[in-house]
Amino acid sequence: MARKLDPRLVEELVDAGSREHYADAAVYDHEYRRRRADVTWYRELAQRRKPTRILELGAGSGRVTIPLARDGHEVVAVDRSPGMLAGLRARIAKLPPAVAKRITVVEGDLCTFRAPGKFPLAIAAFNVLEHLYTRGELDACLRRVAHHLAPGGAFAFDVQLPDLRWLMRDPDKRWAKTRFTDPVTGRATYYSTNHDYDAVNQIALIRIYYDPADGKGPSKIVKLTQRKYFPAELEALVAHAGMRVTERYGDFFWGPLHGSAESQVLVCEVAKPRRKTRPRH
Ligand SMILES: C[S@@+](CC[C@H](N)C(=O)[O-])C[C@H]1O[C@@H](n2cnc3c(N)ncnc32)[C@H](O)[C@@H]1O
Repeated sequence: MARKLDPRLVEELVDAGSREHYADAAVYDHEYRRRRADVTWYRELAQRRKPTRILELGAGSGRVTIPLARDGHEVVAVDRSPGMLAGLRARIAKLPPAVAKRITVVEGDLCTFRAPGKFPLAIAAFNVLEHLYTRGELDACLRRVAHHLAPGGAFAFDVQLPDLRWLMRDPDKRWAKTRFTDPVTGRATYYSTNHDYDAVNQIALIRIYYDPADGKGPSKIVKLTQRKYFPAELEALVAHAGMRVTERYGDFFWGPLHGSAESQVLVCEVAKPRRKTRPRH
């Protein structure tokens, strides 16, 4: 039940939707406190690959960064959100000094960041690449990653598998209604969402509603905008940036990707240059 969207409005919503949801790390951490399987997967990946250092894109408030550093890895954590970086720095300040010194925080954008040195492993956990809204943005990001990978290095990330029924939901109805206690205000609050889907640009313009449970006081609406990647398209986009998909999973338990999977979990490497073949006459 998609409705026609004004392209100028979409542009505005896209920018706000890559920032608003990350303004307050305390709220973010509370909302995703039960999301653990992906953290375990990235920790297992690091145990398998034994990287000397890890480059983490869109590290946010450190949901994955901190466990990796506790496991003994050096992590360079890149993000651009002042709120999330404040949350990350606050968490680092509470760590034992030996763990804290393994984390380097870099304020930077996914498309232009610079991190010191080369990395055997780079990661982008929890839909980070869904904040790259055009082919050019994804390409720029993947090329920055490739530039920072050591020879034989890998880039692992996860994005959602587009769910056609979810994308076509009624944009006026409220979905996923749940009651929770706001960790900042302490007030009982109803959480709900809905979205418009821009099927041309493959962008979901999500609205998250926070309504006071007692009906008193204003509601808050937070924008969250996600680029949707279809699997074959994603593989082609990775190849376009000079990388190749070497492993692909459909969950955080190393299971295969299938049609009703929630996430696409990919491991990529820089593609070897193709040997030039002489044209046959
Ligand atoms: C869904 S959160 C994931 C955070 C963390 N990886 C985790 O697993 O909790 C997405 C993160 O990407 C960051 N982000 C979004 N767009 C970005 C951009 N263009 N450059 C740098 N960071 C960006 C946000 O600030 C946010 O911290």
